[in-house]
Amino acid sequence: MTDVAVIGVQWGDEGKGKIVDWLSARADVVVRFQGGHNAGHTLVIDGKVYKLSLLPSGVVREGRLGVIGSGVVVDPWALFAEIARIEDQGVHVTPASLAIAENACLILPVHSELDAMREGAATGTKIGTTKRGIGPAYEDRAGRRAIRVVDLLHTDTLAGKVENLLVHHNAIRRGLGAAEVDAAALTEKLKEIAPKIAPFVKPVWKLLDEARKAGKRILFEGAQGVLLDVDHGTYPYVTSSNTVAGQAATGSGLGPRAVGYVLGIVKAYTTRVGEGPFPTELVDAIGEKIGARGHEFGTVTGRKRRCGWFDATLVRQSLKVAGVDGVALTKLDVLDGFETLNVCVGYDIDGARFDYLPAGIDAQSRIKPVYETMEGWKGSTVGARSWAQLPAEAVKYVRRIEELIERPVALVSTSPERDDVILMKDPFEN
Ligand code: IMP
Repeated sequence: MTDVAVIGVQWGDEGKGKIVDWLSARADVVVRFQGGHNAGHTLVIDGKVYKLSLLPSGVVREGRLGVIGSGVVVDPWALFAEIARIEDQGVHVTPASLAIAENACLILPVHSELDAMREGAATGTKIGTTKRGIGPAYEDRAGRRAIRVVDLLHTDTLAGKVENLLVHHNAIRRGLGAAEVDAAALTEKLKEIAPKIAPFVKPVWKLLDEARKAGKRILFEGAQGVLLDVDHGTYPYVTSSNTVAGQAATGSGLGPRAVGYVLGIVKAYTTRVGEGPFPTELVDAIGEKIGARGHEFGTVTGRKRRCGWFDATLVRQSLKVAGVDGVALTKLDVLDGFETLNVCVGYDIDGARFDYLPAGIDAQSRIKPVYETMEGWKGSTVGARSWAQLPAEAVKYVRRIEELIERPVALVSTSPERDDVILMKDPFEN
């Protein structure tokens, strides 16, 4: 038995929610270790749809502990709005089912406002962010002026910390022609929310250490995907956190050996929301068809996702930089009925062949994908739970992908329903 980390391998939206939920049936603790409420996980349990952003997927299951680790940036107002939403659906969130790291940093209204102002500005690089304040909050963390969760418990020293933070933010706001933020008003706002968050605040690293010692199974739940990683993604069109598996240790407070098996979630085609390079993007009827069949609209922002063919070159690279052991292939059913399917097996840049994504944004913008064309399948893969239920061409597609990405496919997901999976290898059994 081993602890498992689940991470997205493309640009997010690979269908992690379903897999995490499926695995959390056998875990005791589910930990979020990076990102914030920019993430959107849809879970379908017995036909009931739950949309989670900041909360670990484990909270919808009885008897599990959901943990928000120190690597997460927490918007306390968004958190309680989300808790209220799922409580309306009959799920109770209590300090027994949710713990928040005392050393996690907060997202404040100044962060989301700055995010939106930058995205709306005529100058600078438009990233296409979720405007949730993720980038500005991580900037303040690295700048050592952030307000952390623990600061909400010490209201006597809070005002000074808020003033210090606002020296920085008000200077930027003046430059952007925005109204300055009043320190006393923001401090009051924080003092109001403090008693609500206080019961959930814990030394999470200690809690997790004790859980491990007690033999509990821990599942680390990644958000976004490797190609949005601030180091290894398509910079600057990335999110502001590390999304690779190493972050599961850093963002929860456990050492590098905390994770025994890394499961990478890979969609059977490719999607991206926001700006940035996308070598296999299809801006034609095929792209539209994939988007419509795959319901490719953002869970958080409702934005239409860009769609394209499977890019084995990118996925192979992502799996390697992220340290993925095995893959869950999702949304295979979306490709049902296509006459032929293209898979990208390399890049042509100005006549030179590449088997990886070069880091330079200029080179990335000149990529011509090199495709291998495969036969599609006529039958349906929806709801298949064994290889025998898949059309032969679908099996060939999966096997070819496995070969190209140089990692084994541990499971295939064939519908949004939790139990519609073909399991080759149980990630917990290592
Ligand atoms: P941010 O994380 O809001 O700063 O956005 C940075 C980039 O990451 C943008 O391209 C977003 O569309 C993308 N992004 C952030 N969160 C997600 C997610 O959960 N799924 C897919 N894309 C995301």
